[in-house]
Amino acid sequence: MAENQSLMQVTDKVLSPDRVITGARLSEGEYKLLYQQSIQDPEGFWGRIASEELVWEKKWDQVLEWNYPNYRWFTNARMNITVNCLDRHVQAGKRHNLAYIWVGEDGQEKKISYGELLDRVCRLGNALRAMGIKKGDTVTIYMPLMLEQMVAMLACARIGAVHSVVYGGFSAPALRLRIEAAQSRVVITSSWTRRRGKKINLKSVVDEAIDGLSVVEKVIVAQREGDDYELLPNEVDFQDVLRAYPKTCVPESMDSEDPLFILYTSGTTGKPKGVLHTCGGYNVFTHYTAKYVFDLHEDDLFWCTADPGWVTGHSYIVYGPLSNGATSLMSEGSPDYPDPSRWWKLVERFGVNVFYTAPTAVRMFMKHGEKYCEQADLSSLRILGSVGEPINPEAWQWYHKNIGKGRCTIVDTWWQTETGGHMITTLPSVMQKPGKAGLPMFGIEPMVVDKSGNPVPANTVGHLVIKKPWPSALRTCWGESERFEQYWNSMPGFYYAGDLATCDEDGYFMILGRADDVLSVSGHRIGTAEVESALVSHPSVAEAAVIGKPHDVKGESIKGFVILKTGHNPSDSLKDNIRTHIRRELGALAMPDELEFVDGLPKTRSGKIMRRVLKAKELGMPLGDTSTLEE
Ligand code: WT7
Repeated sequence: MAENQSLMQVTDKVLSPDRVITGARLSEGEYKLLYQQSIQDPEGFWGRIASEELVWEKKWDQVLEWNYPNYRWFTNARMNITVNCLDRHVQAGKRHNLAYIWVGEDGQEKKISYGELLDRVCRLGNALRAMGIKKGDTVTIYMPLMLEQMVAMLACARIGAVHSVVYGGFSAPALRLRIEAAQSRVVITSSWTRRRGKKINLKSVVDEAIDGLSVVEKVIVAQREGDDYELLPNEVDFQDVLRAYPKTCVPESMDSEDPLFILYTSGTTGKPKGVLHTCGGYNVFTHYTAKYVFDLHEDDLFWCTADPGWVTGHSYIVYGPLSNGATSLMSEGSPDYPDPSRWWKLVERFGVNVFYTAPTAVRMFMKHGEKYCEQADLSSLRILGSVGEPINPEAWQWYHKNIGKGRCTIVDTWWQTETGGHMITTLPSVMQKPGKAGLPMFGIEPMVVDKSGNPVPANTVGHLVIKKPWPSALRTCWGESERFEQYWNSMPGFYYAGDLATCDEDGYFMILGRADDVLSVSGHRIGTAEVESALVSHPSVAEAAVIGKPHDVKGESIKGFVILKTGHNPSDSLKDNIRTHIRRELGALAMPDELEFVDGLPKTRSGKIMRRVLKAKELGMPLGDTSTLEE
């Protein structure tokens, strides 16, 4: 906490408030007025937005039905999110407007219009129906960042199937776990992706993941240039499938509360949880936040650098921008390959207006130096976004000066897989306080409270909670409703976010990081519990504990403490072997940077590992309260 306090002081001292953008949809005064309205009468507010912004097959009986801890938005309304994302734009004469521009790592470019996207979504939707996939069935998608991935997600939504996208960096066991938990009969994948010039085989990961898994009946493979292997009997080619089915597909009539997707994310304990989002509320909230936070207009080119394997991609590559009829850019491969000017050259080449990335990427570019972004004309940029972890003042300054050229506003957006969309962020025309995510979105009432749920004074560190449900709040954890209830029971009456925060006299929130044992490594959420259980699954490991250490680019790096089983001796080669084991079990993103062999671990008398103590020791900080520490 001492660290957090000093970060706060630095922020207030070094950075003066900043106000840059003019001409955004809402002025500061309008934001404040609308926000007041949204809090005084959330149902009136969201009902109006839902009516004005989206098309519905049938309107709702009630905007919000709240039986704590469960809530339903737009009850008994009927709709299909793909109609809002595709059909209505096509019907409005925008068939030829671009939905996406895709760039491969080798520079190859593909563009797809709203009309073409709708056609493909319908073809695949028909194909899935022909494979026996019905409303409510799950489909797992394990693909690189390619247009077929958006088609796959939307095709599921078209027919009411629940997609579960698994990030392409996860290993076979991690993918298997998610396919099994979701019970997907169909998996959609691609043959390979490219990273740093190297082809990475994805299909073989799927092969391994589903080996002996009887639930999976069919695998749809988006084959890519140069593929020449024979499809297995359970496999079909993505393009063949598209050709075989018609380009019209009646959208499934969905109840507002029918499941739209599940997305597995890490928690403090146990296996990842399948966060469930439903159709109506999620559509309303992602549409509205994309429109106002990014000030998105139809002729804007938006670039969210995330991958749809994470919620950022779901909400701000797929559903939010499409619902607004905007054009998005996406680029497969590494940001600094072949060199760190790659992204900036793309901004110039396509004239990107709104750019949304993670602090870890900013810090990486910072390290490479200004010369790379100076090679490109960045004058098309208007708004810059940040997401995934707190953006430290140095990175904020660098982003603002070198990418935004002092002209662009920076929207620092705090939200979570569970929240579905932006919760705290200062709108482009509202006064920004660098280093603070800032003010709440419409309808959102965040608070900072102590352990017992009492509000803490201004500028005091506490737990971030949200007062009431909002339209895109998670509805449950797939098959594990008790894990869902924990969000609303940990601090009775509130949604408990699991983050530490402060709020200043002006109501600006600053997010300081997780309060629990969840790590953020390069903006990717990783549970210490998952890494620990992967560590102890290694034959020579008896016990293990994992902590996050501050890292200048990744935000946090993983350090594991390992007790070996008797008869196993510490060595560097054993360390490498254990790290490789983690990569195999979970994926490269969870591989510890450091391992240390130890004889014991600090535990409470009841036997819980005190990671806090390990971390304080590691960082040379005061140990804090150790009264529960076992001697
Ligand atoms: C956790 C959620 C939301 C999409 C990406 C991550 C951290 C997220 C910020 C921000 C400070 C942030 C929080 C949160 N986080 N955005 N702007 N400032 N911290 O989604 O994997 O569900 O992780 O990311 O700790 O709880 P996620």
